Amino acid sequence: MIWITIDRSSHKPMTQQIYEQIRESILHNELQPGERIPSTRELANNIGVSRNIVLEAYDQLIAEGFIYSQPRLGTFVADGSSLRLGRSWTPASMIETCPNQDDTSYIDFRAANPAIDYFPRKVWGQLAKQVCNQASDIIFSYSHPLGLTELRQTLSKYLHRYRGVKCHPDQILITSGATQAFHLISQCFKEQNAEIIMEDPITYEIRNLFISAGYSIYPIPVDQKGMQTHLLPPTTSCKLIFVMPSHQFPMGGVLPIQRRTQLIQYARDTHSFIIEDDYDSEFTYEGSPVPSLQGLDPERVIYIGTFSKILSPGLRIGYAVLPPILTHHFQRQKWLMDRHTSSLEQRILARFLEEGHMERHIRKMKKIYRKRRQTLISSLKQEFPYISILGQATGIHLVADFANVVFTSLLTKQILQEGVKIYPVEDFALQKGGHLKQIVMGYGSLSPEIIKEGVYRLKRAIQSVS
Ligand SMILES: Cc1ncc(COP(=O)(O)O)c(C=O)c1O
Repeated sequence: MIWITIDRSSHKPMTQQIYEQIRESILHNELQPGERIPSTRELANNIGVSRNIVLEAYDQLIAEGFIYSQPRLGTFVADGSSLRLGRSWTPASMIETCPNQDDTSYIDFRAANPAIDYFPRKVWGQLAKQVCNQASDIIFSYSHPLGLTELRQTLSKYLHRYRGVKCHPDQILITSGATQAFHLISQCFKEQNAEIIMEDPITYEIRNLFISAGYSIYPIPVDQKGMQTHLLPPTTSCKLIFVMPSHQFPMGGVLPIQRRTQLIQYARDTHSFIIEDDYDSEFTYEGSPVPSLQGLDPERVIYIGTFSKILSPGLRIGYAVLPPILTHHFQRQKWLMDRHTSSLEQRILARFLEEGHMERHIRKMKKIYRKRRQTLISSLKQEFPYISILGQATGIHLVADFANVVFTSLLTKQILQEGVKIYPVEDFALQKGGHLKQIVMGYGSLSPEIIKEGVYRLKRAIQSVS
């Protein structure tokens, strides 16, 4: 099946738009070798452009070997024109990964957005003033690449108490968001033909980061319980395994203990390290958060955390808890990359934790997010009684499975025309075809009223297409 959408307001010629969309579909195996694609006349009629425009795009694709035409039989996808499945992917469009923050005209169900309007401005401002007025001059100078001792000490206690993380403060490296921690890992483990095992589906950002650093990806499909560890390859040269055991993104599964132990045993046997991305488990609405994987084997697990969801992504503060054997190499890389993360912000954050503001803030936000989640689920169930909600009640997003609605790019565009942004799970999938009826819906940044309106508009868009 082929879906082409033409953006008539774009400066890009329509021929180019058609050419690029078919090329991408072939490269990513959405169109399989041997599959028949519509005739130029059919496609021109479907998308409402002149046949010459489509002809020109097809000519280009034929010239590059993506498709071939057989007289009287039709046009087909050529053999060997897709990227090897299960190994390497080109980065997803960077535009998707760089949201336009000024564009507030949409109801945006983007999963990464927390409630930034609830940032504790007053307390943060008071602490910033105190730090600025009272700290010794040294705070304004260069500092240690691992980060301020004060913050690392407080953080190690906090992580032990709330996440079961076992570490000495000297194993903690303060980074510019979790993103920089992933970047440091990609640099420290870089070698020729480097490969990383990752959950599938996975966020564009993390996938792109490792691909851009030269890694190829070995995907392991996830189910309702996270990574399917029995599908790990019997032998591997991968030195890294990326996993989100507390709340898989996007599917929301929590890795059961049997899979955790299997994963750790696998990492031990293959001499690899596990990257544990623990990005949002502070907000667990049913039961209590499952302790970290790191606590089971601090020598094998690189634990990554962030303050982007709890406080604000604008702060750009995250951290890596490193196995002792890696700390020296990582702190050197960090120094080479940007010396260290802002000492002023680190000190303010340390005070915020020490004085108990963090716990209070999390308690408050949990109530707000719980209500938003409930509103989203009840609105979805009211408008679409047949859907199911997937994943654990944690974090600030969920996945809705619509059973009989396929989220094609045409439908996504129609939904956008209703002023709503949704995110098909299929876009996050490395191996295509398994998540066509599912969307990721973030509720963190949306008030209950906006959520209801968004779901209502979503229904209108789906009805208009069907
Ligand atoms: C799965 C996942 N991990 C980590 C992060 C946090 O990244 P950062 O701390 O760089 O903002 C995000 C952000 O959206 C995410 O989606």
